[in-house]
Amino acid sequence: MYIVLFGPPGAGKGTYGRKLSQWLGIPVVATGDMLRAAIEEGTQLGERVKKYVYAGELVPDEIMREVVKQALDSETAKNGVIFDGFPRTLQQAKMLEELLSEKGAHIDLIIELDASDDVIIERLSSRRVCPKCGAVYNLRTNPPKDDSKCDVCGTPLVQRDDDKPETIKFRLDVYHKQTAPLLEYFRQQPVDYLVLNTEGTIEEGEKKLREELVNLGILR
Ligand code: AP5
Repeated sequence: MYIVLFGPPGAGKGTYGRKLSQWLGIPVVATGDMLRAAIEEGTQLGERVKKYVYAGELVPDEIMREVVKQALDSETAKNGVIFDGFPRTLQQAKMLEELLSEKGAHIDLIIELDASDDVIIERLSSRRVCPKCGAVYNLRTNPPKDDSKCDVCGTPLVQRDDDKPETIKFRLDVYHKQTAPLLEYFRQQPVDYLVLNTEGTIEEGEKKLREELVNLGILR
């Protein structure tokens, strides 16, 4: 099963993607996480993309094609994946359809996550991440037991470079101008389509999402 999680920065793609992965037993392909890992490791890909990621700009489509193709070709992706943060342009949506059709597959479900800009700005300003195991916290709504350390591995938490206030606003602008127009295209596709407002708590969001997936016959 191939699922696309779509929505503005901070709408909860990572949060609900990890939950879906647990429920469905298929991996998440989170393009932002993959790019940040490449930057951290100092790979050739990391060198090519870091100026875009730090600035909150979209990485060029041709580079994203290579990243996603490699992820889709991996052994762990053979039963399907949950895409978090891809596609983000019409050209990327077409690339994805093409890459999946080469495998005799297609997108099965699109989940649109929705939250207002004000909620997002507050959330992303208080997000903290573990640089070692990737766990994600929120100082207001989902805090670690100790404000500065990861509950899972004890590593000091950090703020993402692109979670500084001016970059958050820029990323939202990029989303509204370059990515949101894709919504119209997605809504016209003959696939299951869900809209989840994520302005409530994470637990409320998970409950609603689970109910919707049961209604679609994807979960029992
Ligand atoms: P990426 O890493 O994909 O960032 P993003 O889309 O901006 O999304 P975020 O990871 O910031 O937010 P999220 O929706 O996952 O929210 P989360 O669950 O963490 O991309 C980063 C950069 O990489 C881009 O700017 C671009 O440069 C590049 N890039 C990546 N993909 C690309 C592509 N396809 N094409 C071109 N460039 C690409 O939640 C946010 C916070 O809210 C957390 O702290 C969470 O705990 C909290 N929270 C509180 N309440 C809730 C609730 N009810 N639901 C969910 N979360 C909640």
